Amino acid sequence: MAHFPIRIGTLRPGHSVFFDVFILISEKYVHYLRSSDPFDADRLEKLKSKGVKKLYIRAEEEKNYLSYMEAGLDSLKSAKMSKVQKGVIARDSMVTEAENLERNLDSQEGYEKAQNRVSKVLEYLMSDKGAAKSILTNAGVSTDAYQHSANVASLSLGLAPRVGIFDPDELFDLAMAALIHDLGKVKLGIPFGLEKEKLPRNLITKYYSHPSVSVDMVADKKYVTARTLRLIADHEEIGDGDGFPEHKKLIKLPPCSQVLNLCNDYERYSSIQKIPPLELFRTYIGERGHFFMEEHLLKLGAMLAGK
Ligand SMILES: [Fe+2]
Ligand SMILES: [Fe+2]
Repeated sequence: MAHFPIRIGTLRPGHSVFFDVFILISEKYVHYLRSSDPFDADRLEKLKSKGVKKLYIRAEEEKNYLSYMEAGLDSLKSAKMSKVQKGVIARDSMVTEAENLERNLDSQEGYEKAQNRVSKVLEYLMSDKGAAKSILTNAGVSTDAYQHSANVASLSLGLAPRVGIFDPDELFDLAMAALIHDLGKVKLGIPFGLEKEKLPRNLITKYYSHPSVSVDMVADKKYVTARTLRLIADHEEIGDGDGFPEHKKLIKLPPCSQVLNLCNDYERYSSIQKIPPLELFRTYIGERGHFFMEEHLLKLGAMLAGK
């Protein structure tokens, strides 16, 4: 029987699940919770305190899980839920989105549902000035490309309206681009969290090709827009032609590209320095601020401070 991993942060204490939940012990999937049973808050906390980040469901129950996750995202509107819990749900939902998006882009249903879920996170980010901070509080330092992409998406969706981007289609394309921009890096086997200067020689040329490899991986998917592809292709262009692959000037790129490239660079810097995004802003400004627009940096700083 095939199993499918789910992020523990997407499970809500006290709410019933509509799928059987398994835990992986010594390479065996052990039945942990029955479908229609609620997840007890203490049990959930115990698992988290033991460092368990993922549980598992039967692969054929993935749809049920995604519906459950969607209902969880609705609770981002609830006045009863704490900001901490909202941050956990939004964050782990975005990581789940990043992990599954390439596959979900194959069908209209998959695409529309992903769009629906991402829109709920966007709504939360737009409804509350402290939302981005609450998401990143729980994020910590990214340890893989999917966590990185989820954080880049949350940062970008939080920052974009602050710099005047409000068009829902543009925001959704930006979210898609953020979630899939580094698929090429994963495919090329480029290790996560290393500065490019520290990569082995045989990977350097591959590294420079990763934006175009990411584009190629999703270019034939019907629902990926030309704008999303362009955002992905240009996501490493920074400063006055200091990025790659085409050494474009950042100022000449559209505002949503400028937002994505800043958030990507910021999040990557966090994973390389192993300092959580919320604690990094001052150091980052000193080291890399000159590559980006001052206005965008100031707004990023305010957002990270929850203002
Ligand atoms: Fe990249
Ligand atoms: Fe990236």
